[in-house]
Amino acid sequence: MGPVPALEDRAIDCARRLREASSVLVASHIDADGLTSAAIAARALERAGIAHEVVFENQLDDDRIAAIAETGYDTVLFTDFGSGQLDAIAEHEDRGAFEPVIADHHQPAEATTEYHLNPLLKNIDGAKELSGAGAAYVLARALAETGDGQTATEDKSDNRDLAALAVVGAIGDMQAVDGELVGANRGIVEEGDEAGVLEEGTDLALYGTQTRPLPKLLEYASEVRIPGISNDEAGAVAFLEELGVELKRDGDWRRWVDLSAEEKQTVASALLQRALRRGVPAEKAERLIGTTYTLKDERRGTELRDASEFSTLLNATARYERADVGLAVCLGDRAGAMERARTLLQNHRRRLSEGLTRVKEQGVEQESHLQWFDAGTEIRETIVGIVAGMALGVDGVDPNRPIVAFARKGEEETKVSGRGTARLVGQGLDLSTVMTEAAGAVGGEGGGHDVAAGATIPAGAEEQFIARVDAVVGEQLG
Ligand code: C5P
Ligand code: C5P
Ligand code: ZN
Repeated sequence: MGPVPALEDRAIDCARRLREASSVLVASHIDADGLTSAAIAARALERAGIAHEVVFENQLDDDRIAAIAETGYDTVLFTDFGSGQLDAIAEHEDRGAFEPVIADHHQPAEATTEYHLNPLLKNIDGAKELSGAGAAYVLARALAETGDGQTATEDKSDNRDLAALAVVGAIGDMQAVDGELVGANRGIVEEGDEAGVLEEGTDLALYGTQTRPLPKLLEYASEVRIPGISNDEAGAVAFLEELGVELKRDGDWRRWVDLSAEEKQTVASALLQRALRRGVPAEKAERLIGTTYTLKDERRGTELRDASEFSTLLNATARYERADVGLAVCLGDRAGAMERARTLLQNHRRRLSEGLTRVKEQGVEQESHLQWFDAGTEIRETIVGIVAGMALGVDGVDPNRPIVAFARKGEEETKVSGRGTARLVGQGLDLSTVMTEAAGAVGGEGGGHDVAAGATIPAGAEEQFIARVDAVVGEQLG
């Protein structure tokens, strides 16, 4: 039995169909979840002895689906997208262009297809309980189960080692609830643990415990802001020095992973105390400690050792048209591709920080039920959603209202990203429906998840679009 029993039958059907194919085109999305999805699919197909090729797309629109049909592959495995574009995909299927196999977690469109693996079809939450990489992992496990052990590699693997990548995908899609993977994702965490590739632990829940120099780890922490330490280089250094923590060893900055258990304990409890003393509410300060996912086969002190840092590294490649680099890293390249990915990561960090600064300086417009900003050409359309999500925590932006962001996408199109919060979703917000409806009303296309969704609309339609979004969100939040 696979890691998600409710999806087992569908997964086995999809796996059998893939085994009938002479070769498979894998098409996937250009973010951390999409890259890990593709890597899991590629590895599992390779182990099953099925020839394949991988392509990445920014958005799976009609043109891209038509281009995929042109490749002449008769079997196309869509990962981390496809469900939302099923109407268009089904047209090609009906015409006999190719047969789709879909492993996705986005809100499905109306058409149906035979080989469709999606948690939402089984009432499993696609925003919190299973990512695209999770769906691909369920499929990979089914591929192993349907094997006859005939190919050279498949008898050696049940594909459980791929659970580590599935967790990177889920973390990259921000599926953790209060820092922890839940629901169907738990089955994957357990298999990764059993396979010895993954460890779930409790540790300091700040981004960068593997790679950031200690003072930078504290200074840059945006998860929980601590007065006198966050955004305060001298303050962060002074705080650590007062605790008597050695900051450098042999001339190199020490990182969180370099500390002894005792030192970690000292720093963590001092941080907590400082936060409480400086007025951070207890429920917020407690978030300093949380669940972490460690990839045990990766070297300590590298981006790949921690699921969160790994996923950011992947976003730094694929969202800048270098999905090939991210895929190579996922598939084990620790030399050339890894080096290139690190350079891309520096660029990505800089762009996110510039994007956020821009939002802080220019502020957001308020409507009745939401807030929005237009980044024009200043923020790349592939990362404007990440910036919008980060903006929900900054001064001048209401953390309790949905946020919508625009960015130019060529001459004729505008990219839209929408982000909400778990609390708003609890109150009825469903941005996937919002984006689909509002985009449809102005001649665009949209989709996604309840808490995060996006769209592409014709340039010039922004005002009309926002009015529509405002109306639909108003209805949802009643
Ligand atoms: O296309 P895909 O499903 O991979 O993308 C999901 C997007 O939703 C990611 O960009 C992720 O960061 C975002 N998200 C979010 N907040 C959540 C869940 C997902 O911003 N709570
Ligand atoms: O691009 P962004 O990160 O804002 O996308 C948020 C979510 O909306 C992702 O899951 C993405 O796949 C989805 N989306 C979509 N259709 C679009 C744009 C985004 O389904 N046209
Ligand atoms: Zn995804």
